[in-house]
Order: sequence, then structure tokens, then C-alpha cells
Amino acid sequence: RTLFLAGPRERDVARILQISLFDSTGLKLKAARSFDPEKDSDAIVLRFDPALESIGEEGYILKVTPNRILIQARSSTGLFYGGQTVCQLLREADPIEGTGGPRYCVPCCSITDYPRFGWRGLMLDCSRTFQSIEYIKKTIDRMSFYKMNVLHLHLTDDQGWRLEIEKYPELTRKGAYFPAKWKEPEPHQGYYTRQQMIDLVRYARSRGVTIVPEIEMPGHTLAVLSCYPHLSCTGGPFEIHPFFKGPGIHKDIFCAGNDAVFEFLENVLKEVFAIFPSHYIHIGGDEAPKSRWQACPKCQSRMKQEGLKSEHELQSYFIKRIEKFVNSRGHSIIGWDEILEGGLAPNAAVMSWRGIDGGIAAARSGHNVVMSPTSHCYFDYTYGRIDSRRAYSFEPVPESLIGSQRDHVLGFQANFWSHIDREPHRVDWQLFPRLLAVAERGWSRQDVRAWPDFEKRLHSNLSHLSRLKIGYKPRPAGTWSPQTVAESYAPVTWDVTDHITGSGSYCIRLIYTHGAHRLGIESVALLADSNVVSLDSHRGVTGARHENNTYVVRLDEPGKTDAYTIRAMVRSEGGSDSHGEVFVIKRHEK
Ligand code: ACM
Ligand code: ZN
Repeated sequence: RTLFLAGPRERDVARILQISLFDSTGLKLKAARSFDPEKDSDAIVLRFDPALESIGEEGYILKVTPNRILIQARSSTGLFYGGQTVCQLLREADPIEGTGGPRYCVPCCSITDYPRFGWRGLMLDCSRTFQSIEYIKKTIDRMSFYKMNVLHLHLTDDQGWRLEIEKYPELTRKGAYFPAKWKEPEPHQGYYTRQQMIDLVRYARSRGVTIVPEIEMPGHTLAVLSCYPHLSCTGGPFEIHPFFKGPGIHKDIFCAGNDAVFEFLENVLKEVFAIFPSHYIHIGGDEAPKSRWQACPKCQSRMKQEGLKSEHELQSYFIKRIEKFVNSRGHSIIGWDEILEGGLAPNAAVMSWRGIDGGIAAARSGHNVVMSPTSHCYFDYTYGRIDSRRAYSFEPVPESLIGSQRDHVLGFQANFWSHIDREPHRVDWQLFPRLLAVAERGWSRQDVRAWPDFEKRLHSNLSHLSRLKIGYKPRPAGTWSPQTVAESYAPVTWDVTDHITGSGSYCIRLIYTHGAHRLGIESVALLADSNVVSLDSHRGVTGARHENNTYVVRLDEPGKTDAYTIRAMVRSEGGSDSHGEVFVIKRHEK
């Protein structure tokens, strides 16, 4: 019976909120235009109010009274966020006798809420492993549920070019696919059509998320050079970097002395601007070795001509030239902190990843900054290196910045590189629950930072993560360490009685966290009161990379008082310095 009441301006956001509420609760609410206080008691009223300047573009005011929820905001994003808060506050209420179906209630409250930072981001690397549109949409849903607002898509790298460019069809005909000889699974390669990206941008926009595209230059460009080798210093030929060789840094990069490179990039960027309205366009800039430029007559002659004293200055020339073009089209560039080397382009923003020093230097010289240091924000790293607590401890505005320098920190973001974990459920695991730390520290006031309080909120949000069908990393059922594993195969056992909740299938995952040595796995068994009830034997490995390290066991007839144990036959390979965690995850069965 609860209605959305929305005028013409609020109608689009009402439609999106209908979907959010359905995802959160299964409730299908009607949208109505007018409100009869006599009849429409359980209404959610959305109201634009441009006069609410104090809450900013993304803020909202939420008032819940016994028979009405009022959301007011200056923008549809603000109304959307108010609606997400309603979704988060919903609790299942006692059913009324005879009415059937679940009932939901929201506690009475009055909330004025707005974000600390305008950049609360996540980067997805879609190049090393292609991420499906479906998965990116889910990611947008999940980010926006937690009021994150920037999705940075790393669209090009040595392993693949993922964006259709009409002028250069080779980029996606050839550059989006690994050579057949490497037998890469089909879902891990491919590209996004222009229309798919336009639709995705719109999808994201209606949920308050800006998509920032990244087109890498001058390095991480083997996919381009494999299609258009004349854009390199040597002329090639080149092959895409194989996935199995890890992330990789290649010395073959765009030639900075060849005007055809700038013509190519300007043509690509023109198409990028037509797809992505984002003010910032990410131009990469990281990890570009200079050895080819040192040996290239064209690059050297460019340096002489432009009076450049080093190859770093040549990179700076490259980025400044691109910046000029990007600025002339009304956009700004953002780049990894290497763009500071040799002199920062006049209007560039810096994404600080090699620690925060690059960000500090940029902010001090009046440039905007997004912090994403490897120390706290790299979510392809294991939880052993960056757990939720560490992620939560990150303060994006360093003490050493003073006065207006502090305002140059636009915010921060988590980065996910896809050269280790590729499957959607593995990406989910790497992102959640620690992405909630980014969401909260990006939104809340600086003094809201006590881990024990956040840990409670994190725990109470696990039900939301389940409802949003996120394959998050749960609490481990056990751990291993050099004290419990040997260098030849031997059994290790964990009491998992608390993790077995009735009959069904369970995934048992062993995941390395840290140490010099990986773990080899021969088999995993489920024991009930010391009797093996299920056994999965296959070779698995977990270390810097994981292979076949998920085991499936079944429990068909649980006893009333059984104690359950997992017994794994494992060895630490090459030495005994291996640490990791064991997870028991009930499989959803339909
Ligand atoms: C990076 O991680 N290479 C930006
Ligand atoms: Zn060159």
C-alpha cells in the first residue's frame, strides 16, 4: 500500500527507487502523482527543493513520521540517496494477523545528510580481464546502495582494448582478444560497443554514479600497438601481453616524437567525449619505461626541438599536449601520479597510487587530487595485506596539507586490478565487505572514524550484502600458519560446527593471505563426528594466484548433535612460510 508520490520532476528517481526497494525487500510499490492524506497513509513523498543549499548537490533530508516518509533534496541524486537510506533502515515488522506477506517498517527519524567528499570511487580493471556489462551494472547498484559516486573504468592496457572506436575498428576487432593459442576463456575478453557504454553511462547517472573512462597513455599500450604498430618507436610487430604472465610493464609504448600518435589519440578522445559526459577523463600515465624513447630518433629530435632535458620532460610534453586538447573540448584530465614527473600539466588532477606523496605534492601546487594508495586502497591485494580495518583507517586528507590545500583532495577510491581474480564471485570477494570502508570514510565527517563502531555497522550490513547477492568475504572458519602445515602432504583439520547450517552443499575455500610460500591442496573432506561424509579430491593451489582452490562437499542427513570438521590434505610448497584462511560457504540451491 505504500506509494511513491512524485511530481513530473521526481518521476525518474521514483522509478529507480521502486527498483531499489524491490531489490531490498521484494516490495513492489506503486508510484502516484498526488497525495490524499485521508487515504494515502503509508506514503513515501519525494520533493525537489532547490533552496536547500546547505546540503549540497548530493545531500538529502529524510523525515520519517508514523505514516509518512518525506525525502527532500536539491537533485535527483539527493532524492535517490534518501531512498537508499530508507532501504537501509527498513526492518521486517511483525505481520498483521490475516493480511499475509511480510511487512516492513522504518524507525521514525529526522536525518540531514550530505557527503564529505565529492569523489567516492571504485576503479574496475576491464582490460586485463573483461568485465561483463551485467557485472558492471550490478557493481553500480551495489556502489550506489552505499552512496559511492565514481566508477573509474580502466578500459585499455597491454592485455586488451575494450571500447569500440568507430574510426579505428582494429582496436576491438583484434585488440580486444587474446590470441587463440593462449586458450583464454571467452568471457574474459571482448569489448563494449559504443551504444552499450552510452546506456551504461545513463544507467549509472540515474543512480548518482559518474563513469570516468581511462584511456592509457603513453604506456600500457601493447593492445593498441598490436593493431597499429606504426604508433610505436620501433614499428613492431607486437602481440598483446598474455594474461598468464601477470600484470606486466612493457618498454614498447607510444612514440612521443610521432605526430600520428597525437592524431590517433585525439580521434579516440573525440569519440570518448561523445560517450562519457564525465568532467574528468583519465589518461593513465603510469609505468611508462623510457628506454625506447632514449633510443628513438623521432623522440630524441622532439626533445631537441622542444628544449626538453630528459625523457621525463618528454612524458610531461606528451601529457601537456593531450591536456590542451582535452581542455579545448571542455574536459579535464586526471592521471596516475607519474604525471608529476618532468612537470605537471597546468590543469591536471592527480590520482596518487604510489603512496600519498604524489597527492600531497599536487595539492600543494594547487592541483586536485584523488587518493588511492596501494597501502590501503588496492583491493586486488589480499585481505592479509589490506583487511577491512586497514581500509577503514585510511584518512584521505593528510595532516601535512593546510588551508586551501586540503580542499584539493576531491576524495579517494579503491582500485581493483583484474590480473589475479577474474570471475565475478572472486571480484565480489575482493571488493566486499571492505568497500564499505571506502563508502563510509568517503561520506562521513572526518571525526566519524572509530573502528569498533564501524565493525558493528559492517556486521549488521552483511544481510544487505546477501540480499544484493554479493559474494562477499565472510568471517573465516579457520586459519593455517607455519605451525599447522608441513612441506609434505599432511592433514589439517578445523572445527566448523558453527558454520554448518543444515543439509546441502558447501563450498570450502582455502585462501592464502601472506607468507613466502603457497599452499598445495590434494583433497578436502567434511567429517561428521569423525566420519567422512563427503570428499572432494582434486589438486588446488592458493598463493599469489589461486587455482582450483574451491572444494565442494555435501551434507545430506545432518544429525542433531553432530560436530563437523573439515579435513584438508595440504602442503606448503617450497618452504613452510604459508598463512591463510578457510571459508565455509553454504551454496544457494533452488
Ligand atoms: C597502477 O597501479 N599502475 C596505477
Ligand atoms: Zn619514439
